[in-house]
Amino acid sequence: MTENGWVDETSVRLRDGAAVQLRRLNDTDIDAVIELHDTLTDRERYLRFFTMHPTYLKTLAHKLTERNGKGYALGAFESGTLVGVANYVVSSKPDTAEVAVVVAHDDHMRGLGTTLLRRLAQIARHNGIRRFVADVLTTNYLMFKLLADAGLQPRHLRPSHGVVHLDVDLTGSASY
Ligand SMILES: CC(C)(COP(=O)(O)OP(=O)(O)OC[C@H]1O[C@@H](n2cnc3c(N)ncnc32)[C@H](O)[C@@H]1OP(=O)(O)O)[C@@H](O)C(=O)NCCC(=O)NCCS
Repeated sequence: MTENGWVDETSVRLRDGAAVQLRRLNDTDIDAVIELHDTLTDRERYLRFFTMHPTYLKTLAHKLTERNGKGYALGAFESGTLVGVANYVVSSKPDTAEVAVVVAHDDHMRGLGTTLLRRLAQIARHNGIRRFVADVLTTNYLMFKLLADAGLQPRHLRPSHGVVHLDVDLTGSASY
């Protein structure tokens, strides 16, 4: 339990019956974050980072795992292995945060992405975040489906050069 009363760790059951722990990442998870991203195919890395060979994974792992009040990274762990991460980073507007989700390649389609995003939205609301934003490739139909499945409906879509700027009003989205 955090000082403001928020439970930082919870256990959920996926639709295949598997038990998964959801908890905030910390600095012991740096290697696990890198290993998770290593499982992605080139296409999946492209969908996430707009490049197939991001050179900043180590930096990203450090940023996701440091607790500095500028964001929140929620990890899904199965039998101790990190299988997914959903995170937000607070933008220059304190009630707005950029959101991203990634699930280990072999664990796609188990409901992990939806579960992580739903929970992250709940945590974000609790932490005073009112909007999620994200720049998503127009070809990343799974991200659009994921948002809809998580009860998050983007309000504004502005496609430009193959990228859509998503803007989700968390105050109007379903609460879980
Ligand atoms: C997008 C991503 C996070 C989805 O994670 P996931 O755990 O597979 O998502 P879920 O299992 O919750 O699936 C959500 C829906 O998409 C469907 N889906 C997931 N992967 C699919 C695939 N390869 N083909 C068809 N449908 C798929 C699921 O069946 C589910 O729909 P349903 O509830 O009707 O069954 C994952 O594909 C990923 O890590 N992609 C690479 C990174 C990325 O693109 N991130 C988003 C940009 S920040």
